[in-house]
Amino acid sequence: MKVGLVGLGVIGSRVGEKLADSGSLTLVYNRTQARAAAFGKARGVGVSQSAQELVRESDVVFTVLSDDEAVSSFFGGISGVPVDGKTFLDMSTIGPSTSVAIASDIKRRAASMLDVPVVGSANMVEKKEAVLMVGGGDADFERMKPLLSQIANVVLHIGPNGAGLSLKLVHNLVLASYVVSLGEAVNFGLNGGLDPKMIEYLLVSLSSIRSPNSALKVPKILGSDYAMQFSLKHMIKDLNIIEAEARKQRSVIPMGSLALQLYRLAEKRGLAEKDFSSVAELFRESAGQSQH
Ligand SMILES: NC(=O)c1ccc[n+]([C@@H]2O[C@H](COP(=O)([O-])OP(=O)(O)OC[C@H]3O[C@@H](n4cnc5c(N)ncnc54)[C@H](OP(=O)(O)O)[C@@H]3O)[C@@H](O)[C@H]2O)c1
Repeated sequence: MKVGLVGLGVIGSRVGEKLADSGSLTLVYNRTQARAAAFGKARGVGVSQSAQELVRESDVVFTVLSDDEAVSSFFGGISGVPVDGKTFLDMSTIGPSTSVAIASDIKRRAASMLDVPVVGSANMVEKKEAVLMVGGGDADFERMKPLLSQIANVVLHIGPNGAGLSLKLVHNLVLASYVVSLGEAVNFGLNGGLDPKMIEYLLVSLSSIRSPNSALKVPKILGSDYAMQFSLKHMIKDLNIIEAEARKQRSVIPMGSLALQLYRLAEKRGLAEKDFSSVAELFRESAGQSQH
């Protein structure tokens, strides 16, 4: 079985590493070709010159791309390539309705597609600690589970196409406002004259609200270290998807809507390419303490 991977960004490159470590990866392609060339050389896997070429030569195709537009443009670009019998595994976080529409088109072309969004950061993917939540048919899931298990220890079948993405959005709805709250609370503590080490100790190690994300983000917020793990622009993209889905479902999401406004404000301050925890700088700036 020949396996191709399209998209070698923060997550795609880690997914590629896992597949290459297991000896399963045959080909890679990336829009910025230098990234694919460097990856191919480092890992001894083939480099395709185009997405079309990769699809033609692969039985299974992973896509790990930014957003709806990138994924739609990839599938639009391969509309002339015969795909019968092939399987597409899309790990991008995109709108469930976009994914369902692509999956049904792929099915009409005698191929199959699963949505496989990732819960977890780049370093969790490196340690196989991310969670893969799969939407799609039972038989396709069972067929692909051994391959997906090379990437993560936990691979869950959530339901039909789009269901993996819907659950991923539940996660990011919490994550978005959780990290805003961490920024707000850290600033509140600092302005109250507290020792930053004690704030960190409480939020990372002792409190019942601690989590892998407080461990990851509180030191970044305290140190104004916004080296990108998950970009602020991608968090805005996910909150926009959540808002659109909520409108369709008539769900009320006041925390998500407020968080979206705050991330948009941070984007206007030039933080789009920084880690999304840089939203905390809004509170620092309001107190005249920004180190950014
Ligand atoms: N980072 C995380 O912690 C994390 C965690 C869970 C899920 N996710 C999700 O996983 C996906 C990828 O995230 P990431 O952090 O890896 O993003 P990233 O580092 O920005 O990488 C994005 C990838 O998509 C490609 N791309 C973007 N627009 C494209 C277009 N129009 N046509 C073709 N290729 C295009 C980029 O190619 P170039 O190299 O040419 O720019 C790159 O390979 C996103 O949907 C994100 O929400 C991320």
